[in-house]
Amino acid sequence: MRAVAVARPAGEPELLGLPSPEPGPGEVLIRVAAAGLNPLDWKLADRARSGQLSDEVVYPFIYGVDFAGKIAALGDGVTRFAEGDAVFGHPKRVPVGAYGTYAEYVVAAEDGELAPAPNTLPLPLAAALPTAGQTALSMLEISGLREDQALLLIGAAGGVGTFVTQLAAARGIKVVTVTRGVGEQAMGRLGAADTVDARTGPPVEDLRAAHPDGFDAMFDVASAPDQFAEYAMLVADGGTAISTLGAADARGLTHLGITGINFGVRPSAELLGRLAAEIDEGHAVVQLGAQVPLADAPDAIARSRAGKARGKTVILV
Ligand SMILES: NC(=O)c1ccc[n+]([C@@H]2O[C@H](COP(=O)([O-])OP(=O)(O)OC[C@H]3O[C@@H](n4cnc5c(N)ncnc54)[C@H](OP(=O)(O)O)[C@@H]3O)[C@@H](O)[C@H]2O)c1
Repeated sequence: MRAVAVARPAGEPELLGLPSPEPGPGEVLIRVAAAGLNPLDWKLADRARSGQLSDEVVYPFIYGVDFAGKIAALGDGVTRFAEGDAVFGHPKRVPVGAYGTYAEYVVAAEDGELAPAPNTLPLPLAAALPTAGQTALSMLEISGLREDQALLLIGAAGGVGTFVTQLAAARGIKVVTVTRGVGEQAMGRLGAADTVDARTGPPVEDLRAAHPDGFDAMFDVASAPDQFAEYAMLVADGGTAISTLGAADARGLTHLGITGINFGVRPSAELLGRLAAEIDEGHAVVQLGAQVPLADAPDAIARSRAGKARGKTVILV
């Protein structure tokens, strides 16, 4: 099969011809329609290369964790799915690199992180959902935010941020987004109440002046610890500040009456199912930044590394 992988730890991602994986008992083989690009894809390859993963790693190391596609074959004993079913989610994780989604075929456990794809979306676009969509939905759920409450969202124009903005707006939450150059009009179309530019530095004083009562929650998908701490000062007493980058000093924030959370997404079939329902109910659409053929995935990885993400990149396989 065609796949984008690094052949050896020191290599660069390239299009290779590799053997297709085979489904074992309780597993399904999926013909991938598209892979969704996440910063996690190159972060995982970097961690594998520098020996930071506790799980077994194999080379060639195929990139990618998100996919949408159709069930092509069933392993022994599979009952939840049938050939031809449209599904989305994450493949088997271990050994890391063996089942990457920038490939024509992946294998997933039928009781793993796999669910029927949303009905209302072209199948390749469903590949944009698993990591960013589950992250966005989970963060909203753990924050406990309710209608009419106020959310400050840092890094709103990327994959996670565009889903958070839409899902929050659909719940009647007032979302103030912080971006680097993506304007009020574009974010307003997703449901943002206000958008502030961070290109000349964190706009903390402007936000404090405009929102003197503070925010009920702050989600930050972009900041290192120092900057995160500055934004967290804008959260009202009793509120929540969440980082997707491990930047929250939870103990320090407790002293200020703020719950600090370093978020880690816990993907599941059940969460994917609820995400698909949100999409089918029209609460969010995929903000497509780019749609590229598999051969161009190495360039797309380089753009993500350079921090040039607008919405989601989908790799057509
Ligand atoms: N912990 C978890 O479970 C989890 C789950 C999902 C994602 N993540 C992590 O969360 C981060 C975001 O994920 P993503 O998929 O949304 O990434 P993404 O698609 O690359 O989007 C990141 C966005 O943040 C913006 N940004 C960067 N620095 C900024 C700043 N100082 N102020 C305002 N905006 C800024 C970027 O804008 P520019 O284009 O201008 O750079 C981009 O729009 C990634 O590092 C990812 O690995 C963690």
